[in-house]
Amino acid sequence: MYTGLLHLHRTIAYAALILIFLAMLKSLHGFLNSKEFTDGDRKLGLFAMISAHLQLTFGLIILIMGIGTSRFGDMGQVMKDSAIRFAVIEHPLMMILGVALITVGYIKAKKGTDSRTRFKSMALFFLIGFALILSRIPWDKLF
Ligand code: HEM
Repeated sequence: MYTGLLHLHRTIAYAALILIFLAMLKSLHGFLNSKEFTDGDRKLGLFAMISAHLQLTFGLIILIMGIGTSRFGDMGQVMKDSAIRFAVIEHPLMMILGVALITVGYIKAKKGTDSRTRFKSMALFFLIGFALILSRIPWDKLF
């Protein structure tokens, strides 16, 4: 079950990265070119946010299942071993922060009153969230 969830988490990672990137790019384009914020733009942001939330859900389950096993060791060992620290602390924390920013960006864009503000919120929050996510992905395991 643990391996299956890890596999699922890796598979959804591709979709999440592509969707977040596309939503961010489209918002930036809309903002810079003073386009109309359409329902399609909102939906792209929504799908990106949903994929990020799926990652959050499966990531938390993987984390909880892994804690206490010899794979992760005790807290002293976690802090000493950089690979374990990355898997148990750095990756989850940075991803939670990234997903939170994407959620804020989507909500602000949804509630925004004019197209420019809506595009700006989505572009800015998705950009920072995406950068945080990219900074702590286990790239070696993704490819
Ligand atoms: C967009 C968000 C995320 C992306 C793109 C992502 C990506 C990945 C990837 C590619 C792996 C390696 C999978 C494998 O070994 O086959 C991984 C592992 C893992 N992720 Fe995430 N993740 C995200 C969010 C999260 C969150 C929010 C948490 C927890 C709160 C989390 C917890 C974990 C854990 C515990 C592992 C296992 C690490 C290991 O055993 O080496 N992830 N993630």
